[in-house]
Amino acid sequence: STPISVTALAAMKSRGERIVALTCYDACFARLLDAAGVDLLLVGDSLGMVLQGHATTVPVTVEQMAYHTACVSRGRERALVVADLPFLSCATPERALDNAARLMQEGGAHVVKLEGGAPMLEIVRRLTEQGVPVCAHLGLLPQSVHRIGGYRFQGRDHASSEAIRHDALAMQDAGASLLVLECVPAALAAEIGVTLTIPVIGIGAGAGCDGQVLVLHDMLGLHPGRPPSFSRDFMHGRGSIAESIAAYVESVRDGSFPAAVETPY
Ligand code: KIV
Ligand code: NA
Repeated sequence: STPISVTALAAMKSRGERIVALTCYDACFARLLDAAGVDLLLVGDSLGMVLQGHATTVPVTVEQMAYHTACVSRGRERALVVADLPFLSCATPERALDNAARLMQEGGAHVVKLEGGAPMLEIVRRLTEQGVPVCAHLGLLPQSVHRIGGYRFQGRDHASSEAIRHDALAMQDAGASLLVLECVPAALAAEIGVTLTIPVIGIGAGAGCDGQVLVLHDMLGLHPGRPPSFSRDFMHGRGSIAESIAAYVESVRDGSFPAAVETPY
């Protein structure tokens, strides 16, 4: 089947077809997820937590991201590969351009993702004018955990929701092709989804987004202790990983994931 492009994802949005995304860090899972019809493989810097055992994503380097992105690229045939620009890799526009080059040229990423709002707009413009497709990431920004003081929902008060709404539009205007909204109220995410023409992929952001993403290990029940409130263990009651991935794909496509219990706000 035809490889997925950012324009194909935008066309899915305009047709009202939900976009299915999962994080992916290696070729084995890339093959499996691609074969199951997952549209977007996110090589997330969450690999610092789920693969490397760190408490945060802060220690993850561009070199590690390029390595895992290259592994994923070797396993994928159809899905779009999106790679995270890790902590401080976008501290200046020059660094952002160099690091995006590594993720695309060494890693084979089709799109790079970066966390943050207003301060990142200039970088998004610089990347997109050089032909680098960008996925913006607003709401909970895990790379800023030490500044925020923990992982918690964002956009729950007026000022914070206004800022997210405003940044989302500004990111689209700056040239972003996709937007990830993490841990924001479902009503806010749904409103942003109808306002923007670019696809909005939610995680902990309710069922009203144009697509959903989860951390692979969370949805396979591999999370140590209790999984995040907005995730679901798709292995529960199923006999294989392939079956669980298929159930996730179907549940995102038909809108049954996330359900109300997986939508805290
Ligand atoms: O790193 C990651 O897995 C992510 C998703 C949670 C969106 O950025
Ligand atoms: Na990330």
